[in-house]
Amino acid sequence: MKLWGGRFTGSTDSFTDHFHSSISFDSRMYKQDILGSVAHSKMLGKQGIIPKEDSELIQKTLLEILKDIEDGKVTFDEKAEDIHMNVETILIQRIGDVGKRLHTGRSRNDQVALDIRMYLKDQITDIKKLVYELMHTLNDMAAEHTATILPGYTHLQNAQPVTLAHHLLAYMEMFKRDYARLGDVYKRTNIMPLGSGALAATTYPIDRRFVCEELGFDDITLNSMDGVSDRDFVIELLSALSIIMMHLSRFCEEIIIWNSQNYKFVEMDDAYSTGSSIMPQKKNPDMAELIRGKTGRVYGHLMGILTTMKGIPLAYNKDMQEDKEGVFDAVDTLKMCLPVFTRMISTMTVNKANMYKAAKGGFMNATDAADWLVKQGVPFRDAHAIVGRLVLYCVQNGKSLDELTLDEFKAESDVFTSEIYNAISLETCVNTRTVEGGPSEAYIKKLIETNKAYLASL
Ligand code: ARG
Repeated sequence: MKLWGGRFTGSTDSFTDHFHSSISFDSRMYKQDILGSVAHSKMLGKQGIIPKEDSELIQKTLLEILKDIEDGKVTFDEKAEDIHMNVETILIQRIGDVGKRLHTGRSRNDQVALDIRMYLKDQITDIKKLVYELMHTLNDMAAEHTATILPGYTHLQNAQPVTLAHHLLAYMEMFKRDYARLGDVYKRTNIMPLGSGALAATTYPIDRRFVCEELGFDDITLNSMDGVSDRDFVIELLSALSIIMMHLSRFCEEIIIWNSQNYKFVEMDDAYSTGSSIMPQKKNPDMAELIRGKTGRVYGHLMGILTTMKGIPLAYNKDMQEDKEGVFDAVDTLKMCLPVFTRMISTMTVNKANMYKAAKGGFMNATDAADWLVKQGVPFRDAHAIVGRLVLYCVQNGKSLDELTLDEFKAESDVFTSEIYNAISLETCVNTRTVEGGPSEAYIKKLIETNKAYLASL
């Protein structure tokens, strides 16, 4: 008979059992479920709600069950529906009637809300570590490339020269925000719902603050109906994970472009590339493509849970069992993508010469040529037009700006002097942008130190 089978005369259909059972995916919360039950039974004993000896036997047996699960000695039963009832069933098998006292003053509704919060807290901590490692790698790589000139693009058209360090540290900023976002989600996940009961709390004199303390939560939920039906923290986490994937995906897209034959800015290490079964020359950046591709499923899980939650009347409804698979898959996905990405970028070869060559083409120093004229007193609009005409001349004659002779410069404006050559060198273009937030080597070196201090403070 089912643990809840008292008011039933018939048994459930076995296909139905398979349909509504969640053990195939919620078994991964076995540890949280058991530790939650240990704290609950300890509290029941302390409050005199169940005999102290019973509470102690329950706690001891639960920990034995935990060890047996970890040693692979336990097989879960689909008929016992979910992890909560599987553990309780095993407990009752082992210690009989005493085990039947565990569920006093508790419902699976607050139990599952507790378990998933505990589980996701651990996952957030793991993912924060992976984001930390990525940030560390980015900052270290940036330190090696403060003078590596790279074309900067807008519209994927050559725009202005930057450095590889500047580019890498743009992502550093994104991941700093991601790290902070995970910390925010953690705060709101770290609230203890047990004691909410099915929805209207309980008449037993339970001590919720004791359980909260035992399990290392910050605070308790303050409304039992909200306590069992809130899944905002799942949605928030999926949102934070989606944003991380979006950042990884943009970066992957760039790496795929940079790794292509037409750019050759980087070359992926063999360990992070694959070949083609038909084209012998191929070395494809599959890992980057796969990370970009997996972004879709994480977004999908966010949409899934938002849609599941939008029409659910208070309080618990079985729809909410659908909260788990998506967020579990998202967490698993991030835990694979982040370390692969970090290793992939830290092992790729940077081709500085090709980056430099690309930055030299495409008139990326045109703005600087105009700015130089402005500094000599030419109004910006006029300067813009003069340099525009020079660019046209260069295009027609297959030259770059720095290849023009002084006479050719002077043909458009007699303000030009030989100083223009230094003013439009790529190094000058980058390093005169000393403003905070800019690409100059001087500023970027400072920023790398700031980032080091930030990383050390985490
Ligand atoms: N497996 C269920 C879930 O994940 C546990 C809670 C079930 N509660 C209930 N009243 N059926 O949501």
